[in-house]
This record gives sequence, structure tokens and C-alpha cells, in this order.
Amino acid sequence: PVLVVDFGAQYAQLIARRVREAGVYSEIVPHTASSAEIAARNPVALILSGGPSSVYAEGAPRLDPAVFDLGLPTLGICYGFQVMAQTLGGEVANTGLREYGATDAALTGDGGVLLGGQPADQNVWMSHGDQVAAAPEGFEVLASTSATPVAAFGNDAKCLYGVQWHPEVKHSDHGQQVIENFLHKAAGLAADWNSDSVIAEQVERIRAQVGDARVISALSGGVDSAVSTALVHKAIGDQLIAVFVDHGLLRKGEREQVEQDYVASTGVRLVTVDAADTFLGHLQGVTDPEEKRKIIGREFIRAFEKVQRELVAEAAAEGAPIKFLVQGTLYPDVVESGGGTGTANIKSHHNVGGLPEDLDFELIEPLRTLFKDEVRAIGRELGIPDAIVSRQPFPGPGLGIRIIGEVTRDRLEILREADAIAREELSNAGLDGEIWQCPVVLLADVRSVGVQGDGRTYGHPIVLRPVSSEDAMTADWTRLPYDVLAKISNRITNEVREINRVTLDVTSKPPATIEWE
Ligand code: XMP
Repeated sequence: PVLVVDFGAQYAQLIARRVREAGVYSEIVPHTASSAEIAARNPVALILSGGPSSVYAEGAPRLDPAVFDLGLPTLGICYGFQVMAQTLGGEVANTGLREYGATDAALTGDGGVLLGGQPADQNVWMSHGDQVAAAPEGFEVLASTSATPVAAFGNDAKCLYGVQWHPEVKHSDHGQQVIENFLHKAAGLAADWNSDSVIAEQVERIRAQVGDARVISALSGGVDSAVSTALVHKAIGDQLIAVFVDHGLLRKGEREQVEQDYVASTGVRLVTVDAADTFLGHLQGVTDPEEKRKIIGREFIRAFEKVQRELVAEAAAEGAPIKFLVQGTLYPDVVESGGGTGTANIKSHHNVGGLPEDLDFELIEPLRTLFKDEVRAIGRELGIPDAIVSRQPFPGPGLGIRIIGEVTRDRLEILREADAIAREELSNAGLDGEIWQCPVVLLADVRSVGVQGDGRTYGHPIVLRPVSSEDAMTADWTRLPYDVLAKISNRITNEVREINRVTLDVTSKPPATIEWE
């Protein structure tokens, strides 16, 4: 792989994705990795990421200097560029001149291998206080800005390059080309990594891991479990059994989508557990959000364990025991739980709707090295319907946490209808790409007066919560066009009798969360 050395900024994952977009497989390593540890991963090139520190700050992240003796093609970016300059005998200084945001950069000469073929002047995205005042010996200056005399450098003989700006962000005009020039021209790496090659490699790996044992998988209707399950199925066919727990809190058409479209397109052998009665029974009279989440999480595990015991017993009787469980873990989860970066930045994962941790299976995690957009590409390649592959996030506890008040069958039916209308109109308006998700929330314990025909109504309000976000950690409310809102409001109040008022949530996260409960 190309190893992206993470100096603790938020950019390492983005760099790794850009490298893969260039058709070269990449992984992230913490800057604390020693030269021996890095060499042990058989890298074909290194990219040193940006970072939040000054190279002079106390405790500033460093790189084992011996890494530069490995003879690997290396590209330093921003902080990584400065670390490279400093380690190799150049000079890094704090001149008090800072550059943030869009900046004009001018090529020096023809820009060399790294910047060759690009316009003499270009717009690049900067974010730095310190700067490289003098390039190390043997390095040629490739670009400069008005504040930064050495904004890019290169040493062709040693295949070492660096840029002060961030080529991985879209605001840098020719950023992707800088990365591609480094990978393809400087390091001579072929662009041969794509979703086909991932599928072929995983299929082989899964077959080797599983042998003739059987495998179980829990489908949630979400993208990750749908793709990981289909991939395992491609590898081992009917040795895989997928389990889908219908907890009665799904949205309109979701169960059918899994049972019909998904199964038809993948051929996966599916067992659906009809657990709606059990879930609704336990949710009776419960209004507290945390209590609801706990009940739904607990019942999900119970339902899964029950069917799993039956399937295990059945398989054992047939002499083909179930030994493995499929999990749709993605690369950002691996990196964020300390598997990749030095700074263990652990997200508070929502485990509700997850599986128990003590199941007696070995894990198969075929998406462990992949980013979400790559998972979607693989899903499409495997023929999974786009409605599933492009799906917006939906919480494990489902509509149970979108009914404010007690969850009942009637209320679920009302919410399902309203939610289906909102989803349909947002899609018709072409807004799916712009919104991260749009929860529709039923204020079941609130009533408001309305007038319909000649009569007074006393119905429920619903809330539309459209948000835009990168990762759900922060979000802003999406400025939906008024005519789209009007259409949604009209249709919901006309078509869902119990709802006589539609409201819009205009709060960012923080201070509000995306979901209401
Ligand atoms: P909040 O409401 O915390 O939601 O801003 C952030 C993101 O997480 C989703 N979410 C969940 N996903 N199980 C899940 O799988 C859960 O229990 C859960 N709760 C919230 C939410 O839809 C949003 O995308």
C-alpha cells in the first residue's frame, strides 16, 4: 500500500481516499510508527499528512528520521512537508506570515515532475503558520507564494517531494493532479486498484477463511450490512444465511425492499424474523427516550440470538456448523477506534441495534479497509439496487425514536405515511445528494387545532428535520426550497388524516442532535 502517515489532523483520511481515487490502495499509519514498523507493512510510497502543530512546539508530532532512509518515494503535505524539510536539513521558520484559505501559488520553472503541466499560476488551499525558509540540499524549489518562498519542493534523484498547501481538498485547483503526478509519474505506481479488484481479492480471502463452514449475517437494511452480506454471498453462496429482524419500527416499504429487491438482486438466502409484536409489547407505555433505546437494543439481541440458536442447531445437525459472523465494519471505524491513528479519537458509537459482543463466532469483516463511497461503489458493482446502496442513514431503533411519546401501531402507521411522502418529494426534487438525512418526527403527545372542510380538527403536528452533514458529528439544517416544503406540507396534511400541521426544525447540531430522541 501507499502509507499515509497521520500527524493528527483531520486530513489523513481524506488523503487516503484521494490516493484510492487515483487507483492506488492506501492505508493510514500513526506518526509514532517506527521505521521498522513502516517497512514491515511493505509500502510502495509514503505521504506525510498535515497536522495541527508547529514543528517547534513542545511534544510536536515527529517521524522516526530513519523512515527517510527506507528509500521510499515520499510526498510531504503541509505539516508533513515541514517535517520533511526539517529532518533532511532544511530550515523551517516562523516568520509571522500566515496563510489561511485560498492563496495564489506560482510555479518555479516548469514545476518539475510534481507540478509539471499545470498553469503557471494557480489557486491552492493553505493553512499554516510556520513555513519552509530554505529547502534541504539537493532539493529544487517548485512553487512559491507571496508569503512563502518555498511552497513546494522536490528531489527527483531520491523521489522526495513536498507541498505546503493541501492538494487533498477540493479548493486546491489542481490538487488531485499533484497527488496523481506523485503516485503515477514520480513513484511509478499503476492505477490498478478499483472496486473490481477489491471484490476479487475479498472473494478469495473469504473463501480461504471460511472453507466449508457456514456463516451468519445480520441484515439491517442499511448500506454496510447489505454490501458486506452480498460480498460474502458472492464468495460462498448458500453457506451464508442472512437474518433480518423486523422490529416493526421500519419505514414504509423497507422490509419489502430487503425481502424482494435485495434478495432478487443478490440471491442471498434470507430468514426474516417477525418480531413486531414482541417489540411493541415491550414498548407499551414507555415514553422515555433512553428507556426506549434500551428496550429496542435488548429485544434486538434477544430476537437475533433466538434465531441464531435455531440456525446453529440446524446446521450442526446437518454436519456443517456455523462458525462465522459477518460484520459491516468500515475503515473510518477502524481508524477512529485507534486501529490506524496515533491520536485515538474514539467516537461514541451508537450501539443500539448492534449485535451482542460475546457471540461465539469468528468475525468476517470484508469492508474493514474501505471508505463509505467505496462500499457504495462495490454495492453497485454487486448489483444491489440503488435505493439500498444510496440510502441515507437510519437509526437502529428506527421509528421508535421518532415518535415523541408512546410507540403504538397506529402512531407508527401515521408516521410511516408522512415519512414516505417527505422522502418521495425530496427525491423528486433532486435533493437526495444535498441532504444527509431528513428525519420526520411525530409529536404524538401534542395536539393542535385545525380546520378541514367545514370542521374543526384536533390532530398531531409532525416535524421535518432535514440536515446537511459530513459525518453526523455536526450538522446544519438544510435550507430546503420553499416550494418543496409547501408540497410536502400539502401532501402530508391532505393524505395523512391525523396530521393537521407540518413544522420545520431549524436547529443546527450542536446544540440539537439530529434525532429528537
Ligand atoms: P444524533 O441524533 O446523535 O444522530 O445527532 C447522529 C447520527 O446517528 C444516527 N443514530 C443512530 N444510528 N443507532 C444507529 O445505528 C442508533 O441508536 C442511533 N441514534 C442515532 C442518526 O440517525 C444520525 O445519523
